[in-house]
Amino acid sequence: MQRVTIPAIGADVAWRDAARQFLAAGTPPSDILWGGPAAAPDLFATDSAPRTGGAATVPRSFISLAQSVVWHSDPERFARLYALLWRLRDAPHLMTDRGDADLSRLRQMEKNVRRCQHKMKAFVRFRDIGTVGANRRSFAAWFEPTHHTVEPTADFFVRRFGDMNWRILTPDISAIFEGGVLSFQQGQPKPDLPADASEQLWITYFRNIFNPARLKIGAMQSEMPKKYWKNLPEAASIPDLIANANTRARQMAEAAPTLPPARLAQVQAQLAANTSAWTGPTDTLPAAISACTRCQLHCNATQAVLGQGPLDAALMIVGEQPGDQEDLSGKPFIGPAGQLFDRIAAQVGLNRQQAYVTNAVKHFKFVARGKRRIHQRATTAEIEHCRWWLDAERARVQPKLTLAMGAVAAEALTGRSTPVLARRGKIETALDGLPVLITLHPAYVLRLPDGPARIDALAALKADLGTAANLIA
Ligand code: URA
Repeated sequence: MQRVTIPAIGADVAWRDAARQFLAAGTPPSDILWGGPAAAPDLFATDSAPRTGGAATVPRSFISLAQSVVWHSDPERFARLYALLWRLRDAPHLMTDRGDADLSRLRQMEKNVRRCQHKMKAFVRFRDIGTVGANRRSFAAWFEPTHHTVEPTADFFVRRFGDMNWRILTPDISAIFEGGVLSFQQGQPKPDLPADASEQLWITYFRNIFNPARLKIGAMQSEMPKKYWKNLPEAASIPDLIANANTRARQMAEAAPTLPPARLAQVQAQLAANTSAWTGPTDTLPAAISACTRCQLHCNATQAVLGQGPLDAALMIVGEQPGDQEDLSGKPFIGPAGQLFDRIAAQVGLNRQQAYVTNAVKHFKFVARGKRRIHQRATTAEIEHCRWWLDAERARVQPKLTLAMGAVAAEALTGRSTPVLARRGKIETALDGLPVLITLHPAYVLRLPDGPARIDALAALKADLGTAANLIA
């Protein structure tokens, strides 16, 4: 067994040299024990890599993969890379084999490292540590990377801040740039850096670019993961900005737009069309829905599917949109989702005939694949357009309780698009002030594979239908 120690600083070159020599000497992966610097800090040389043999030819794509993966935090990264390199000797086309498990694991690691580098470029926040009169300005930043990305990312900061002295201190490796020379040191504990005037700038900048009307918490947290927040001055504003997003979005919509008069009239007409409910004579509502061309969905659908049921129903059931069978027949919930609903409703004593059953979106949205028409989720704009009809139906029926089945119905009724799994079984207030019980969509349950998740979802749907039955009894 050969043991090799790869140092924390210069790991890329050390690994490459050692791997090249092992490969040339014909040393199989099982004969090598790759160790990181924890075992022997600051050891640059390999313990026992053989010095024999000539250079092996390695595909470029592997070299570029290895250049990222060596910085991953997985202690097995060096061994994994060498194992693939070893296999490449007999299978040079392996690098293009998408089904190879070793390769895809390394590709995933490469992605993780690249993402971490990207986050480092975006989230390092320097503080001024310079002295008055010094000939170069000096800055320091504290950063906590997930992978060993300080070294491969340092060049970015050199290019960007080449005329300053700076240091990026981390628990892993620290990068020091002084007098135009870049060097690396072992990591260190978090230092006490002075407060910085530019922090206020970051906060102001962030508050200004934050658009409450476009808030998507999931997307935001994926761009700015929570683990970075503690070192970002602007992150302290996030909870407050999220909490007030709805109010601010409403205030923005209410504030008079500063548009030239011609555009202003057009925009106001469009806003009114999107937000008001239909106000024609009640008995003409079905005909008006059937003739709807408020969005593009009518172009491909067979017909608008109208709500069905008594106009004085205590319960209104709102689904997402008609499916294939509903589109052809013009009746809501007659296909597989409707049949599942009926089966569960019968088990809990909920009679669909006594409810008014409708959809948030009245036309079937689909893409054609051969002879099949595949359901597509309606966009927020399409849901908004169709709310015009849903609001008119609700004003007419005035249900004691509404059952919102699935995310689209929940969004149309409450204006909130947060995931339904966390909301189901709870009563929320609809935009018109009436109570809404949120539940899963039967089609969602049907899409789940047989197994515990499906059993749980069925039980949840049944419990919610039982709740609805009890509340209107
Ligand atoms: N899914 C729905 O949401 N509504 C229907 O009418 C049919 C399937």
